[in-house]
Amino acid sequence: MKALVQRAYGPVESSVHVGELPVPAPGSGDVRVRVRFAGINPLDWKLVEGHYKWMSKARPPCGVGFDLAGEVRDVGGAAGSLARGARVAGLIPAFKNPPGAIAQYAIVPAAFLVKVPDAVPLDQAAALPVAGLSALQMCRLAGIERGRRVLVHGASGGVGHLAVQIARNLGAEVTASGSASSQTLLRWLRPALVVDRAAPLANWGGPFDAVLDCATSLTSQQAKALLGAHGHYVSTTPRFPQLIFDTVLNLVRPGKRRALMLKPVAADLEQLMAQLAAGHLRVAIERSFPLADAAQALALSRAGHVRGKVVVAID
Ligand SMILES: NC(=O)c1ccc[n+]([C@@H]2O[C@H](COP(=O)([O-])OP(=O)(O)OC[C@H]3O[C@@H](n4cnc5c(N)ncnc54)[C@H](OP(=O)(O)O)[C@@H]3O)[C@@H](O)[C@H]2O)c1
Repeated sequence: MKALVQRAYGPVESSVHVGELPVPAPGSGDVRVRVRFAGINPLDWKLVEGHYKWMSKARPPCGVGFDLAGEVRDVGGAAGSLARGARVAGLIPAFKNPPGAIAQYAIVPAAFLVKVPDAVPLDQAAALPVAGLSALQMCRLAGIERGRRVLVHGASGGVGHLAVQIARNLGAEVTASGSASSQTLLRWLRPALVVDRAAPLANWGGPFDAVLDCATSLTSQQAKALLGAHGHYVSTTPRFPQLIFDTVLNLVRPGKRRALMLKPVAADLEQLMAQLAAGHLRVAIERSFPLADAAQALALSRAGHVRGKVVVAID
């Protein structure tokens, strides 16, 4: 089968190519999916560059990518109620299974696949799993609920643009911050307020009850200046030893600092998929690349200024 293959650790441009890999076989509890679209996430190029090597289940040469949507081709053993041909989306659980979503066929545990409603196009479904689950779980970590004042920073990216909408749907008053060139997308998300991140912090509209730092670019001092005394700060990137200090300090301080560690929960993905089908959530797709240009999709993500999501279409 055709697949994006990582042949070495290093820069995306010289470390991946589209080549042939054996069609993978499903184990018990697994589903073999005929992939139609793969969603790109920063984790894809981070693994190619050799970040988190110690946690990864794969060594080059290997596949790339975690998010996908397509049709069920085969199920291995007791793989639940998914019938051959069913439209599905989901994620290969990173660090438990080897990556390989950017390929004609991929193996996904049935527990991490959901049915895609007819109203949801497969490119949008493929863009949703990692970014949508991250956004939803960040909102939970920050205790977001009706009436809370929330800042989503890095709001034009994959996680950020979904976090703005999920927090708004929960009834929060959302401010979305991003670069000057992302302001059109930010307004499309319909937050209460849009801010240019180049503006002085004093003009961002704080204090906020919660800051979701989807770019993990705010310093502790900046986060403190933006939050009220009981405010919650949630970042997308757990950093050691800060994570340990924060876990201990959260026991005694009124404000909390937490970092997302994504849990691939199918029930959460089902909920997001239903919101997408009902039009309560919209996925912005900046660009769809053919498989032949999948390395360019990774390079675009690597450049760090994606508007919404990038996907790869697979014939
Ligand atoms: N811990 C976990 O479980 C987990 C799960 C998912 C994602 N993540 C991580 O979360 C991060 C975001 O993921 P993503 O999918 O949303 O990435 P993304 O789609 O590439 O979006 C990142 C956004 O950050 C903004 N940005 C770039 N530089 C910035 C800066 N200096 N200050 C403020 N904003 C800046 C960019 O927009 P503009 O520059 O145009 O404003 C871009 O839209 C990645 O590092 C990813 O690996 C972690």
